[in-house]
Amino acid sequence: MVPTFKHIALVAALTLSAAAHAQKAEVIHWWTSGGESAAVKELADAYTKAGGTWVDAAVAGGENARAAAINRIAGGNPSTAAQFNTSKQYHDVIAEGLLNDIDTVAAKEGWDKWLPKPIIDSVKIKGHYYAVPVNIHNPTWFWYSKAALQKAGVAGEPKNMDEFFAALDKLKAAGLTPLALGGQGWQEFITFYSVLLHVGGKDAYLKFFKDHDAASVNAEPFRKTLTALRKLHGYVDAGSPGRNWNDATAMVITGKAGFQIMGDWAKGEFSGAKQTAGKEFGCFAGFGPTAPYMIAGDVFVFPKTSDKAAIEAQHKLATVFTAPATQVAFNNKKGSIPIRTDIDSSKMDICAQAGVQALKDPARHVANPDMLMTPDMVGAVQDVITKFWNTNQSVDDAVKALQGALKG
Ligand code: GAL
Repeated sequence: MVPTFKHIALVAALTLSAAAHAQKAEVIHWWTSGGESAAVKELADAYTKAGGTWVDAAVAGGENARAAAINRIAGGNPSTAAQFNTSKQYHDVIAEGLLNDIDTVAAKEGWDKWLPKPIIDSVKIKGHYYAVPVNIHNPTWFWYSKAALQKAGVAGEPKNMDEFFAALDKLKAAGLTPLALGGQGWQEFITFYSVLLHVGGKDAYLKFFKDHDAASVNAEPFRKTLTALRKLHGYVDAGSPGRNWNDATAMVITGKAGFQIMGDWAKGEFSGAKQTAGKEFGCFAGFGPTAPYMIAGDVFVFPKTSDKAAIEAQHKLATVFTAPATQVAFNNKKGSIPIRTDIDSSKMDICAQAGVQALKDPARHVANPDMLMTPDMVGAVQDVITKFWNTNQSVDDAVKALQGALKG
């Protein structure tokens, strides 16, 4: 058959749409707060600049977004990429053969040379890279409003838990909300493991999360942690239940609350409100200059597909996300630290610089709970903590319930 003009036009149109399709990437993520949206826009803009088409699939709430990604994979209609935490959250999906590896990009860009070891351990499974890490977060930071602390007469940063409680008392007496907390399971869980790490200590934290050692739960450091957690509840306002984390950050930004214990994604909200670290707000990653520094963060995985165009889009995403310029622009807005160790950190704010310093000292590193436990066990522990936080359950009963959760 001699091709007619109509045929040629049709073929041209198909070729064009294939080229456009080659660049199209649907990305599931849970970055919906002000700071998070500004940060993910940097990733989207960089992808667009590189010739791609970004299809934004934001789902509010980490648990919801991860469930949506897994449901799409299981239903045979996966997105091009999906966000998870730097952890074991996606290891089952790898074991089931449902993710594409990203080895060619990793080799081309030299990931082995500049990715920190704890991150590699979470994304490189049996010798293959299955996720592109985009940042390093530490979920256990303390944030405070300088204006609120001044109003309450708190002189300096608390250097231990007793001083922290003394500061909370002063804030309470000044009529402010001492501790801003969003009463959602994952935020209560962060409060718990921050106290375990910074009050119970690194050993107690590791015995529990890494060794799953039931006896350690009844030992003094752990009981002290639960007692401190119970006491902290007395410093949270009545509006806490169900509150979003960024609304809790807003209470610190406006000086209505003194402190928030939250990951450094909170910094994205402070910078969105044009506040500067060290000026309107302060930060400390635990008590004292050698406090353990928790390593967490975000990655994107690439669901299995044999569609050549989709694989090209996956490779382009991984390349663009890790490019030095994207890393700087994205992490500045996100409040996190770049995953590349070959980036100049001198222009970062003082909290990020403290983080970079801590990361240089492997003795301070500690893996986050999701790196150390399966998602099921994390879920069981979180449920116990939420019950303990929201009821009058005794420390003895919480100890028993946590020992039960460790049995898996
Ligand atoms: C974490 C994630 C952060 C931040 C936070 C709140 O799981 O690592 O990037 O977005 O949730 O949404």
